[in-house]
Amino acid sequence: MRRPPVPVRTGNSSAKAGAHKKSFLIFCAVIKQKQLQLKYMAIATIKERFKTKADAASQEIKELLKQHGQKKIGEVTLAQIYQGMRGVTGLVSETSLLDAQEGIRFRGYSIPELREKLPPAKGGSEPLPEGLFYLMLIGDLPTQEDANEITSVLQRRSHVPNHVFDTIDALPLNTHPMTMFVIGVMALQTESNFSKEYAKGLAKKDYWSPMFDDAMDLIARLPRIAAYIYRRKYKNNEHIQPNGLLDWAGNLAHMMGFENESFKELMRLYMTIHADHEGGNVSAHTTHLVGSALSDPYLSYAAGMNGLAGPLHGLANQEVIKWIFEMEDELGTDSPTKEQISDYVQKTLSAGKVVPGYGHAVLRKTDPRFTAQMEFAKKHIPDDKLVNTVWKVYETVPSILQSLGKVKNPWPNVDAHSGALLVHYGLVEYEFYTVLFAVSRALGVMASLIWDRALGFPIERPKSVTTESVKLWLEEKEEIWEG
Ligand SMILES: CC(C)(COP(=O)(O)OP(=O)(O)OC[C@H]1O[C@@H](n2cnc3c(N)ncnc32)[C@H](O)[C@@H]1OP(=O)(O)O)[C@@H](O)C(=O)NCCC(=O)NCCS
Repeated sequence: MRRPPVPVRTGNSSAKAGAHKKSFLIFCAVIKQKQLQLKYMAIATIKERFKTKADAASQEIKELLKQHGQKKIGEVTLAQIYQGMRGVTGLVSETSLLDAQEGIRFRGYSIPELREKLPPAKGGSEPLPEGLFYLMLIGDLPTQEDANEITSVLQRRSHVPNHVFDTIDALPLNTHPMTMFVIGVMALQTESNFSKEYAKGLAKKDYWSPMFDDAMDLIARLPRIAAYIYRRKYKNNEHIQPNGLLDWAGNLAHMMGFENESFKELMRLYMTIHADHEGGNVSAHTTHLVGSALSDPYLSYAAGMNGLAGPLHGLANQEVIKWIFEMEDELGTDSPTKEQISDYVQKTLSAGKVVPGYGHAVLRKTDPRFTAQMEFAKKHIPDDKLVNTVWKVYETVPSILQSLGKVKNPWPNVDAHSGALLVHYGLVEYEFYTVLFAVSRALGVMASLIWDRALGFPIERPKSVTTESVKLWLEEKEEIWEG
C-alpha cells in the first residue's frame, strides 16, 4: 500500500506552525488553569461542609466522653474472645449501622429508603453512588446538585498515572483480579498527598485534610484501574478510554465495555448497596485499623481489600455463581427443580462445605441488599433462567440450613444474588466480581477514614491474651491486665 505523501514544510509555514503551537500551548495552559480552579472550588465547598460537620461532631464527642466516658457499654465473655469477637462493641464508625433484623442503615436510611430518596443519574431511577458517598461523608441527604458535584469532582480527579498500568502489566495474566487490583492500588500510593505532607511535618489537627484529598483521588481513580484489569485479563488487553461526561458507576460500565443502559443502572445500584456495612466487617475494620497507624488511604484501603478477597467475605459473590454453575453442570440442566437444588445443597453440606451466599455474622433475616437486587431483576430481567434459579435456591436453602440447628442466620446475604445479574448482562467472568465489590466498598471505608482522622481517633490497640494466661486467670492466680 502506498503511504500518503508527507507534507514538506517551508521556512514560512514552520514559523506559522510555531506561532500556532505557541497559542495552542497558551490555550491549553488557560484551560488547565480553569480546570484546576474548578477542581479546587468544588472540592473546597464539599471540604468546608465536611469540616463544619466534623468540628461540631468532635466537640459533641468531647462533651459526651467528659460526661459519660466511664460508663460501661457491654461485657466481654471468654467465648467471645475466642469466637471472632461477635457482639463485642469496640469501634465507632459513623457512616452506617447494622441492625440484625432490619439490615443496614446508612446515616439512618435503609436500602429501600435510599433507592427512593437518593438522586438518580439523568434518565435513570437507581441511586447515584456519589449521592450515598455524600450522605456518608456529610451526614445529610444530598440534593441532585450535591450528587452531581461529587460526580464532577471525581471526573476531574480520575487520572491514573502510567506506572500503575505498567505495574499491573508486569503480573502474569493468570493472577487473580483482586491481586492485580490491590497491587494497582499500591502502585498508585506514589500519589498520596497525606504521606508527602506528613513527611514535611503536619500538625495532628490537619491530618484530615490531605486524607480527604487522597480519599477523593483514590475513589475517582478506582473505576479506571478495575476496568483496566477487566479488559487486560478478559478482553484481549483492548482498553476503552474513560468518558468524561459519565457518572462514576456509568463510566466504570463504559470502560469495561458495557454500554447497555440497564447495566449502567445495575452498576449504580451495585455500587450503592455494597458500599458500607458498619465498621466491624473485615474490609472496613482492616481499613480503619491500618489507617489508625496513620498509614495513608492507599495503604489502608489496599489492606482492607486484601480482607475483602477472602471467601468468607467479598469473594463469596464469585463462590455463589461458581456453586450454581457447578450444580447446573452436574445436573445437566439450566433450570433445576427445587428438589434437585435441595439434593445438591445436602451434598454440599455433607462434603463439609458451606452454602455460599447464605448466613451472616450479624444479620438475622434476608439481607435487604439481596431484596434490592431481586426487585431490580423483577423489573428488568424477570425471565432470566439463572436469576430464576437464584430465586428457587432462595426458596430452598433457608429451611435446610435452619434444620441443621447451628446456623444462626439461614437467610441469603448480598452475594447470593449479585452474580446472576452480572451474568445476564454478559459479565460472566466471576473471578472479577469481588473487584466490583471493592470499588464500591471504597466509598464507605474512605468516608469512614476521613472521619477517623477528623475526629482524631488514636492508634488502635486492643489487648490480647494467651490461653496460658487465661488458665491462670481462671485459677485466680493472675489478673487479666486491664490497662
Ligand atoms: C457469613 C458466615 C462466614 C458467618 O459465619 P458465622 O458468624 O460463624 O456463622 P454462624 O454463627 O451462623 O455459624 C455457626 C455454624 O453454622 C455454619 N454455617 C453458617 N453459615 C452456613 C452456610 N451458609 N452453609 C453451611 N453452614 C453454615 C458455620 O460454618 C458454623 O458451623 P460450625 O459450628 O460447624 O463451625 C457464614 O454464614 C458463611 O460461611 N456463609 C457462607 C459464605 C458467605 O456467604 N459469605 C458472605 C458473607 S456476607
